[in-house]
Amino acid sequence: MIKLAPSILSADFVNLERDIRALAPQEADYVHVDVMDGCFVPNITIGIPVVAAIKRISPLPLDVHLMIERPLRYVEDFCRSGADILTVHAEADLPANIRAALEKTRALGVRAGLSVKPNTRAEAVLPFLELCDLILVMTVEPGFGGQSFMADMMPKLKTIRGWIDERNPGCELEVDGGVNEKTGRICVENGANVLVAGSAWFKSADPAAFCRALKA
Ligand code: DX5
Ligand code: ZN
Repeated sequence: MIKLAPSILSADFVNLERDIRALAPQEADYVHVDVMDGCFVPNITIGIPVVAAIKRISPLPLDVHLMIERPLRYVEDFCRSGADILTVHAEADLPANIRAALEKTRALGVRAGLSVKPNTRAEAVLPFLELCDLILVMTVEPGFGGQSFMADMMPKLKTIRGWIDERNPGCELEVDGGVNEKTGRICVENGANVLVAGSAWFKSADPAAFCRALKA
């Protein structure tokens, strides 16, 4: 089943509650929450108190994407603030600390995700695959919404889909960056089952139709 995870980075922050409450009736599956620290990426977005506030009003699970350095430091806080899936970046720390972050996330009863930036090879996820409930392949450089989709990430996506099917079939495979109706379909063809969409979703005149088109 294909799932849609609208990224609230493109929502109206003045009307965040309104925009989040609209997502479930539009048949979205997760609320994608982008956390940026100004170090791992050159942008700063939202933090722990905002995630906790969103949790109070969201009928959908929170898919929290941490674009922060040394995420292990904050795993417990984000898990307790209500993340249902917590994704860290493979590039954000030493492998032992990434492993510890994934293990800690699961120990706290939260689904653990691992993301790779465009320049990171597919192989980077291999040592962690059995510890993951979700792998996130970035199809833009993380940091900003509204960038163009990198179609050259498709071979990486396909390779990771093959490994997931072999070694951890319950693991979800998500893409993030530049996803619209056309590029989303390409991602599904290459093995993704969770599509993050920020600007395309929130600019759409009919997000429910957008959602249905990608799930069909
Ligand atoms: C980018 C974020 C994305 C972003 C996607 O670093 O991780 O989730 O909001 O935005 P679009 O869909 O506009 O590329
Ligand atoms: Zn994201």
